[in-house]
This record gives sequence, C-alpha cells and structure tokens, in this order.
Amino acid sequence: MTIADQKQPTAKAPGSKSPRGLIPAHVAIIMDGNGRWAEARQQPRTEGHVAGLENIRRVLRHLENRGVSYATIFAFSTENWTRPQGEVSFLLELLAESLKTEVGDLHENNVRILHQGRLAELPPELSKEIAAAVELTSKNDGITLIVAFNYGGRAEIVDAAKRLIESGVSADKLDEESFAREMSPPGVPDPDLVVRTSGEFRISNFLLWQSAYSEFYSTPAPWPEFDEAEVDKAIEAFSNRKRKFGGILADRPE
Ligand code: FPP
Repeated sequence: MTIADQKQPTAKAPGSKSPRGLIPAHVAIIMDGNGRWAEARQQPRTEGHVAGLENIRRVLRHLENRGVSYATIFAFSTENWTRPQGEVSFLLELLAESLKTEVGDLHENNVRILHQGRLAELPPELSKEIAAAVELTSKNDGITLIVAFNYGGRAEIVDAAKRLIESGVSADKLDEESFAREMSPPGVPDPDLVVRTSGEFRISNFLLWQSAYSEFYSTPAPWPEFDEAEVDKAIEAFSNRKRKFGGILADRPE
C-alpha cells in the first residue's frame, strides 16, 4: 500500500515517460504565500501555515500518483528565524505537532521521511522527534519526503566544506562528487523540477547546489491553493522543457 490511490507507472529516473508525458523523479517546492493567503481572508498568518501544512498531504499524494519518487518541501529556512518570535514558535510547534499526528499515517502509507538542514540548532526535543521519524520510515520504499527545516543552501555548502576540511581531504581529491555527497541526504538525486508558489521567481537560498540544472516553475497560486490540478500543470510544463545540461540537444537523443 502506498500513499497513491491511483498510482501511475513509477518514474525512478528523470526522463521516464508516463502515458501523460515526462515525469520528474524529484520535485522540490518552495511553499510560498501562506501568509498572504490568510491575510486575504482577514485571518492571522498562522492560519495560512495551518492550511499550508494540510496541503502537504494532498500534494504528496498526487505527486506519488503521478510517479514522482522524491519530494522536497522548504518548510523553514535558516533566514526564517528573523520572523516575529510568535510566528517562529508557531512554525516550530506546527512541525512538532505534525510529527506526532502525521508520521504514523505517512509510515502506513509507505512514505520515507528524510530531513535536510541544520538539525543541531533546533530545540533538542524537536530534533529527536525528527530523527525518530526518519528512523521509523527508513525502510519504506514509497515516495521519499524530504523536509527542509532550518535549511539554507549557503549554510549547507559551508557545512559541507567544513566537514570535508575536517576529514582531511586534500585539495586535489576534492571534486563535485565528493562535495555533492556531503550535501543532500545520501542517495537523493538533484531535483528535476523546482516549484515556487505565490507568483515569485526567486530561489531564496533553496537547494543552491542541487538546483544547478533544475527546471524552475512559478505559479501565482498561493501554497494552500496549490492543488492536484496545479501539480498537473507544473508537471506538464516540465514535460515540455528541453533539458540540455549545458550541452546541445543533438548530444542527448530522445
Ligand atoms: C512561506 O509562506 C511559508 C513558510 C515560511 C513556511 C512553510 C510552512 C508550511 C507550509 C507549514 C508548516 C510545515 C511543516 C512541515 C511544519 P509565507 O509565510 O512566507 O507567506 P507570505 O509570503 O505570503 O508571507
């Protein structure tokens, strides 16, 4: 049993075809617009985050239906600490709460959970809960959900460099592969598609290294309204892109 109710043929590698077109293996999402969505309804911004959290389940299910194997969600950035204290506490609490209430269901639905970001800077209880969710779901082979929480692309690159220096690697042995191994959780391919909701066209320190050749898609829909039809539009846009990876199309016959 997986989270998908009507599973499409699974795309384990980018470029796999489904009856509906080319499916990205890894979709990474900047879930923007929760605050504006709530404010437009005369609600506190925190209500937008609650609606945003609920939307993760719906989108994850649909991504798996469409054959996506990895989904990374940008849930809290290293810069989000500068938000008003009340909103920061609310987001930390929302994650803590969702770890209690959602992880059982995700596990039953065969979802594998991974974390990306600086775990050690989070409250100890929260980082323990995150580690427990990762451990509990580690053998699952449905869609992999990577939760970027206290994540920043620049911080990740600096942390990787520090670890490499500490490991004593010599400069001539340092290459893109050794660097890449220090960043995303092991075995996670670079995102094929980066989606940003709420009409912005910024990368905002998200997956800076990994998104070097990702296709970027922006939609005006705020995150709480990014539904199944929006997922389909993003995947369709991806399937019409010509990816060249710095080469020319003649190098990569279809
Ligand atoms: C951006 O909207 C969203 C965030 C900074 C947080 C994303 C969080 C969630 C979707 C819910 C919590 C998720 C987990 C896993 C706990 P914004 O507040 O910047 O919106 P705005 O640009 O309209 O102000």
